[in-house]
Amino acid sequence: MAATDVERFSNEEKRNLSLGGHVGFDSLPDQLVSKSVAQGFSFNILCVGETGIGKSTLMNTLFNTTFETEEASHYENVVRLRPRTYDLQESNVQLKLTIVDAVGFGDQINKDESYRPIVDYIDTQFENYLQEELKIRRSLFNYHDTRIHVCLYFITPTGHSLKSLDLVTMKKLDSKVNIIPIIAKSDTISKSELHKFKIKIMSELVSNGVQIYQFPTDDEAVAEINSVMNAHLPFAVVGSTEEVKVGNKMVRARQYPWGVVQVENESHCDFVKLREMLIRVNMEDLREQTHTRHYELYRRCKLEEMGFKDTDPDNQPFSLQETYETKRKEFLCELQRKEEEMRQMFVNKVKETESELKEKERELHEKFEHLKRIHQEEKRKVEEKRRELEEEMNAFNRRKVAVETLQCQSLQATSQQPLKKDKDKKKSSFSAWLGGLELVTQ
Ligand code: GTP
Ligand code: MG
Repeated sequence: MAATDVERFSNEEKRNLSLGGHVGFDSLPDQLVSKSVAQGFSFNILCVGETGIGKSTLMNTLFNTTFETEEASHYENVVRLRPRTYDLQESNVQLKLTIVDAVGFGDQINKDESYRPIVDYIDTQFENYLQEELKIRRSLFNYHDTRIHVCLYFITPTGHSLKSLDLVTMKKLDSKVNIIPIIAKSDTISKSELHKFKIKIMSELVSNGVQIYQFPTDDEAVAEINSVMNAHLPFAVVGSTEEVKVGNKMVRARQYPWGVVQVENESHCDFVKLREMLIRVNMEDLREQTHTRHYELYRRCKLEEMGFKDTDPDNQPFSLQETYETKRKEFLCELQRKEEEMRQMFVNKVKETESELKEKERELHEKFEHLKRIHQEEKRKVEEKRRELEEEMNAFNRRKVAVETLQCQSLQATSQQPLKKDKDKKKSSFSAWLGGLELVTQ
């Protein structure tokens, strides 16, 4: 099609045509429903609340079954996320339900970082979905979507106000997940206190800018009930799987010495309202909001972080291909810069090492010269000592010879002269020996 044809066609106004008879595309919604039913649904609930606040009991009450529950100890060092997935079926609808428990929430002495594992868990599920979307061979059709669709935030029924941990955690989560705040164990608080508590909670959430999930009012079919229910938030709930006989009916309730709190009695608590809003009316909206609002925000931030953008600096559309090319060029330039930097670093290092080696060589040379001088000095001293010793030895030998000669002469003289002149002889021979000795030493 030529460019002008395309222009003319797109400029043409859309026209409404009437059909001559039944064509059949009015079955599209039914096709969609049967396809969805065949595919099944997944729904993921995150339960955040203090240990023992009644999370597991409420889940069992909501889905009218007994999920495997494992009580948490109060001694967890950090908050740990524990997901459990169950396959449920009601009529012909399959539901893959994941309940994620924030185990150990509120049990640490320092609660500053309590929200972090929860935020990280939510982000990891978004990241896994994004990675699947970005794959060349995607299998989103049978992908087990683990993104959190709703966070039930269990508020302790103090009757006072929200704890700072509640406000900080909800604030950190509100851009990532649909939060529905609920007052847990609301049977432990009186009706008038509960009323004031609800007002206090809502005003604290508003003044701290915490965005909680609002039941949608844009769909006419549910707009009325949803807007009424929005005014009831936060729901004050009671959980129990125990059956108690009231009148001639068995109902789920909590029995006390002074009476019975019926879980499904709207004048006793808001359990029915919660079940209605969470499961029966807005489950699909929660799934949709997760995808179109929270996941979209995560995806946008992540892609922008990676350098992708929709428009260039002049506000012109920027295709994925162009982004890829720009990124590739940037990457190559960066690579070259890094390469050059490393080469320069290597050259500098070699130069540094070379000069260090030269310095070491000079030091060694100096040391060698010094040792050489010491050695020569020592040698000269030894030579001198040797000469002195030799001279001493010669002198000794000469004296030895002289003594021997004198001894000889004295022996000869003794044998020739009579004994009476012994005294004189000894005297004269001694003076002669002395004279000889003087001669020798001279
Ligand atoms: P961990 O998983 O160990 O953190 O506890 P949890 O939050 O799952 O609490 P769980 O449902 O195990 O309930 C703890 C206790 O609170 C149990 O004895 C429940 O019977 C009781 N409980 C649960 N819901 C309610 C409630 O609505 N009102 C009252 N009064 N007690 C409740
Ligand atoms: Mg539990």
